[in-house]
Amino acid sequence: MSATEITSTSTEVPGEANAARRAQRSGIAERRDHIKVQRGAGAGSFGRFHARLRADIARRDATGTPVSVLPSGAEEPPLPGPMMMPTDDARPIHPVDLPERLDALVAAVRERTSLVPRAGIVLGSGLGGLADDLDDATAIPFAELPGWPAASAPGHAGRLLLGTLDGVPVAMLQGRLHAYEGHPPGLVVQPVLLMGRLGARTVVLTNAAGGLDPSFGAGTLMVIADHINMTGLTPLLGPNADGMGPRFPDQTDTWTPPLRERLHACGRAEGVDLAEGVYLGLLGPAYETPAEVRMMRGWGADAVGMSTVLEAIAARWAGLDLAGVSLVTNPGAGYSGEPLSHAEVLAAGREAGPRLARVIRRFVRELPTQ
Ligand code: HPA
Repeated sequence: MSATEITSTSTEVPGEANAARRAQRSGIAERRDHIKVQRGAGAGSFGRFHARLRADIARRDATGTPVSVLPSGAEEPPLPGPMMMPTDDARPIHPVDLPERLDALVAAVRERTSLVPRAGIVLGSGLGGLADDLDDATAIPFAELPGWPAASAPGHAGRLLLGTLDGVPVAMLQGRLHAYEGHPPGLVVQPVLLMGRLGARTVVLTNAAGGLDPSFGAGTLMVIADHINMTGLTPLLGPNADGMGPRFPDQTDTWTPPLRERLHACGRAEGVDLAEGVYLGLLGPAYETPAEVRMMRGWGADAVGMSTVLEAIAARWAGLDLAGVSLVTNPGAGYSGEPLSHAEVLAAGREAGPRLARVIRRFVRELPTQ
């Protein structure tokens, strides 16, 4: 509401009228109006604006009356440019926002490397070791990419790497962005979409998971055949970017069947046992209760975790081929009678990670050239 509006409504409500007049005299109405104008601004400029506001309120004229914050309008703080936005955590990101953000990300990567990846690989908790096998790697910390925050999940390094794995050009995400860290889904899925934009046709998602199938002990590797999204979130909320993917994407074969076959073939060739099943994604970060574990088992899920499903939805939407493996780090809550711990998850990842790495290396080597 502007100062003029306050004055005109004030004749109907005397109490408010007086307050409005007092406010106007002291400049508060103008300040309020100005704050409103600033609401759309990035947090950085809003913070600076507040600091100045506090300083100006403290300023008094010779009679002790507070000096108005906006004497002339000439002192408007600058409108925020993209560099003033702290990270993409600050607001929801709709599909329609993604093309511009991805353009900026591609430009930032291309300043450092011209490598065109054949595949993009997301390394889950405890699986980051595969990144050490990359040759001629360019590593970019998340925080150096526009709009991305530093990774905060324990066990996640938080870097995008581009290099060659056994001679095959790939992009790797060492660590990922999780919704439970407070990141909006439209940020969580940017790494996978960026890999696609950089040239990868195939994305491989790995994760640490709890076993819902009672036969899955710690160390079981499960090819993801399908998923159940119980995060309550979707990266596709809001106006669509029709140039990137359809409004209502089909999810029948989200986990590309020929790639699943190929993963199994690689497992056989490497002498690594691979189970197959349905991954259920929850928001986290609390582990499930035993009752929830029983319920999810009843729904037909075989493993449960706190990642992957949003990335899978976005990859499918954008037309990428998708493969995935869950590393079961522990039986689901309640099965063993022991409490779950993140240390146990990381330890199981360290033990089984090298087996999974062998399967993925072969899978990548055998990817057809595009
Ligand atoms: N539940 C959810 N996420 C997990 C688990 C689990 O038991 N283990 C590893 N990530």
